[in-house]
Amino acid sequence: MNDPLYALTRRIAFSKSPEAAHDWALGWMSKPWVARWLSQRYQSQGPSQSYTAAGLTFPNRIGLAAGLDKNGDYIDALGALGFGFIEIGTVTPKPQPGNPQPRLFRLPEHGALINRMGFNNLGVDHLVANAEKRQWRGILGINIGKNASTSLEDSHKDYAHCLERVYAVADYITVNISSPNTKDLRQLQHGEALRALLDTLMNQHSQLASQHGAHKPLWVKIAPDMSDAEIHDFISTARDYPINGVIVSNTTSRRDLIQGHPSADEAGGLSGEVMREFANERLSFVAQHSPDKWCLIGAGGVSSGEDAAAKISAGAELVQFYTGFIYHGPRLVQRSVERTSALS
Ligand SMILES: Cc1cc2nc3c(=O)[nH]c(=O)nc-3n(C[C@H](O)[C@H](O)[C@H](O)COP(=O)(O)O)c2cc1C
Repeated sequence: MNDPLYALTRRIAFSKSPEAAHDWALGWMSKPWVARWLSQRYQSQGPSQSYTAAGLTFPNRIGLAAGLDKNGDYIDALGALGFGFIEIGTVTPKPQPGNPQPRLFRLPEHGALINRMGFNNLGVDHLVANAEKRQWRGILGINIGKNASTSLEDSHKDYAHCLERVYAVADYITVNISSPNTKDLRQLQHGEALRALLDTLMNQHSQLASQHGAHKPLWVKIAPDMSDAEIHDFISTARDYPINGVIVSNTTSRRDLIQGHPSADEAGGLSGEVMREFANERLSFVAQHSPDKWCLIGAGGVSSGEDAAAKISAGAELVQFYTGFIYHGPRLVQRSVERTSALS
């Protein structure tokens, strides 16, 4: 994507460690004059069609996936780049440092990243204070999780605490049960553990909806690494609850996709171009077998406008990316908005 400004930014950023680059780039972008200038430069000039799903009107179908802005520190700066929706988090009740560094690795040959961040975040109170201050008027999703120190049996308490705290400031909420970097978290995707979690959350959700006089939609984010049978089980349990849909997907634990790469043995979730076909295949499987009323959000490997459109063809109504944004910059937002706005 021809963008000399981004090419220069990327050269500087990629000369730093991945985490230092993240802080450096977002630090610059959040200076108000830079944000204003980026907004003029990158807001889509082409057609941009709003899209209604789950009772929300999205300015366009393209969103930033969770994990880039874990604390909601950069909502206005990221919003200036033309995203229709931004998902902040994953946030946990208490602040926690995450895993020791290094925990984020670039694999440029594959347009990929491996991360084992481990929900490093400043806690839900900090995130809520940021969300209250935001000026950007796009759709704000808040992605919630559990602290590493909370046992799996008690995890519903962490999700419930976060749901209660974020309800007023979120436009929608995502329940993240699919990060590979919090021990045993993915067990919440199955059987009784899933049922127990959804029992608690959906009960609380209906109380919050009447308390606030507003129904905030709720998505569940799943891993691509579930087998067909596991996806069937997940759907047959989750369809008993009034969730609005599923995000397919989080990062993958697969390593065959990057066999022989020097970083292939790093623990963590793999994301980016290299997982695109796999994520699309899982998305279309979920689309074929899930209730029609569910709204699917497709994530995993989007690195061009065509890739964003392919998510819609595979059954998604909305699209998110993270890794493609690191490798291709803000033009990817613009191209994806333009390409998906043309679709019905
Ligand atoms: C560094 C990094 C951190 C992430 N952190 C989170 C997170 O906190 N919560 C979450 O639900 N997903 C997280 N993700 C997963 C992304 O939101 C996304 O689902 C996944 O990377 C696939 O999309 P992509 O190929 O466009 O990156 C993270 C991904 C990366 C690369």
